[in-house]
Amino acid sequence: MRETWASGASPLPQSAEDEDFARFVADIRKATSIDLSQYKEAQMRRRLTTLRVKHGFADFASYFKALMNDGRLYNEFLDRMTINVSEFWRNPNRWQVLKDRFLPAMLKENPRLRAWSAACSTGEEPYTIAMILDSLQALGAASILATDIDEGALAKAKAGAYLERSLREVPPEFARTYFREENGVYHVADRLKKAVRFEKQNLLLDRFGEGFDLIVCRNVMIYFTEEAKQSLYQKFAQALRPGGILFVGSTEQIFSPGQYGLETAETFFYRRTV
Ligand SMILES: C[S@@+](CC[C@H](N)C(=O)[O-])C[C@H]1O[C@@H](n2cnc3c(N)ncnc32)[C@H](O)[C@@H]1O
Repeated sequence: MRETWASGASPLPQSAEDEDFARFVADIRKATSIDLSQYKEAQMRRRLTTLRVKHGFADFASYFKALMNDGRLYNEFLDRMTINVSEFWRNPNRWQVLKDRFLPAMLKENPRLRAWSAACSTGEEPYTIAMILDSLQALGAASILATDIDEGALAKAKAGAYLERSLREVPPEFARTYFREENGVYHVADRLKKAVRFEKQNLLLDRFGEGFDLIVCRNVMIYFTEEAKQSLYQKFAQALRPGGILFVGSTEQIFSPGQYGLETAETFFYRRTV
């Protein structure tokens, strides 16, 4: 029987609570290589505390033991820590800028465009890249890599089936061309699915490829600490070819991009300079 703490209050004094959470972070890292210390602590701790209390664990030590013995609990933990919210054409006017301003010039220079959607969640973002490239007759020659730490999200991405709410920002002509509706479920066109390669990758741990013309990394940096962000911007800049573009989320402006060898090309778009 689990001890329950229905009030949500922890039985531990603050310093012991801090220690309990710090130990949990270390244990998770050892067991899974996921480094929670590189995510903003207050947010992460609040989310995980809510989850732990919901299941009636008095502290993170007992929660950790249970996670290691119960796949369902572990998957739920992963799900809660990763936050997979996404949609097609998220912040549509930025995608329009990519489509009308950057991609035509980039494709003229290199028709075999290499794009990477980093932290792609359930696939809406890489499929948005794919439909835009297809509309520019550039999908056949292009390659699109899409990565995320969450295998559950990647499985959904590969399946390519979505509810209507994920499509609310898709321009109608794109919705007509690239989706097939069946009983309220919207299936992504096969030629988009074939064009995207999905891979599991932990941005905080695994090595990056190089020579990308376009990297799209949106709505994940907000969860990371300042130090983690700085090291990631450095790595993203290195992963671009000189002149390549990094497209970030609409709350994720990079301050002093020059320190990473990037310059502002447009709001939320950065170009590798060297
Ligand atoms: C809010 S979603 C963003 C999805 C998409 N980029 C967008 O903007 O719509 C954040 C994604 O980041 C992923 N993520 C979190 N930590 C990660 C890490 N260390 N490495 C790779 N992906 C990570 C999560 O699994 C989740 O799918």
